[in-house]
Amino acid sequence: MSEIFSKVSELKEKILSEASQIKDEVSLKAFQEKHMSKKSELSQLMGEIRNLVGEEKNDARNAVTSAFQAKQKEIQEAAIARKLEREKIDITLPSYNYKMGGINPFYLIQDEMIDIFVSMGYEVKEGPDVETDYFNFERMNIPADHPAREMQDSLYINPTTLLRTHTSPEQAHAMDEKGGKPLMMICPGKTYRRDDDDATHSHQFGQVEGLVVGKGITLANLKATLELFVRKMFGEKREVRFRGSYFPFTEPSVEVDISCMNCGGKGCSMCKGTGFIEILGAGMVHPNVLKMSGYDPEVYSGFAFGIGIERVAMLRYGIDDIRKFYQGDVRFIEQFTRK
Ligand code: PHE
Repeated sequence: MSEIFSKVSELKEKILSEASQIKDEVSLKAFQEKHMSKKSELSQLMGEIRNLVGEEKNDARNAVTSAFQAKQKEIQEAAIARKLEREKIDITLPSYNYKMGGINPFYLIQDEMIDIFVSMGYEVKEGPDVETDYFNFERMNIPADHPAREMQDSLYINPTTLLRTHTSPEQAHAMDEKGGKPLMMICPGKTYRRDDDDATHSHQFGQVEGLVVGKGITLANLKATLELFVRKMFGEKREVRFRGSYFPFTEPSVEVDISCMNCGGKGCSMCKGTGFIEILGAGMVHPNVLKMSGYDPEVYSGFAFGIGIERVAMLRYGIDDIRKFYQGDVRFIEQFTRK
């Protein structure tokens, strides 16, 4: 009996010393096959002492199993460490230099204008570029035979459909949607006119329409709003001038000029000697427009404005030709990036 025990413990020592020699996956696997299968020397010896006390038997087996598991863990950890080492990324290396395009200054300015009005609580709307004669003109208080239609040369698709000549029809859409309730909205977008393109005229240009309707809205609110817009867009020093004007859909109507940024108001070629440059049209919403949109002009009043996007961008960046916005010359675009 004791003889067989000493055989087991001898064998155990031998196997454990073999375990300590395990270096890699291959020797680990060979060890497992040799010493941990049912046919292993140890198993056979165990068979012979099957009738012995369990604890005695297990001691050798457990020792071999835990030696095996310790090695297995060691080898796996070493493999992971090697993999981490191999796949290490040197984050201190400089990155590739991707060539970045610019952003058309039209969109830089449009976004800035949106930000300014959103900060004042305006809602942003979008309207269709292809508009009906009804919304583009009639709802803006310009009937079919009205001479004011000549103020805006139009691109007709058929006798009742055209590319909108201004963003003002969105005023009517917004009021229809609100169903007689107060509103504050802007609508940025493209507008189209039949024009011969030159440095200051374009068949396509952008506007930001604005409309506020409520009880007790006055020209003073319009003035304060547009002065705030001008100072945020062009700086605190800009002087703002309101001039009486005419639009069929506002009464009274104004045009807004800012002091010339080129000469500071003294008079130069850019402002044609006047010291001021026109940037937008505005006015108090005409009672007919309110009525057609379901608002009682005795109860509600409002103001509206239309700001030319290219106009503002040209003044802000000193761009001298409106055609540059759509010619797609990369040398032009590359000069602009978002702040
Ligand atoms: N729609 C006018 C234009 O395109 C601008 C404008 C808008 C004027 C709103 C008054 C009120 O010329």
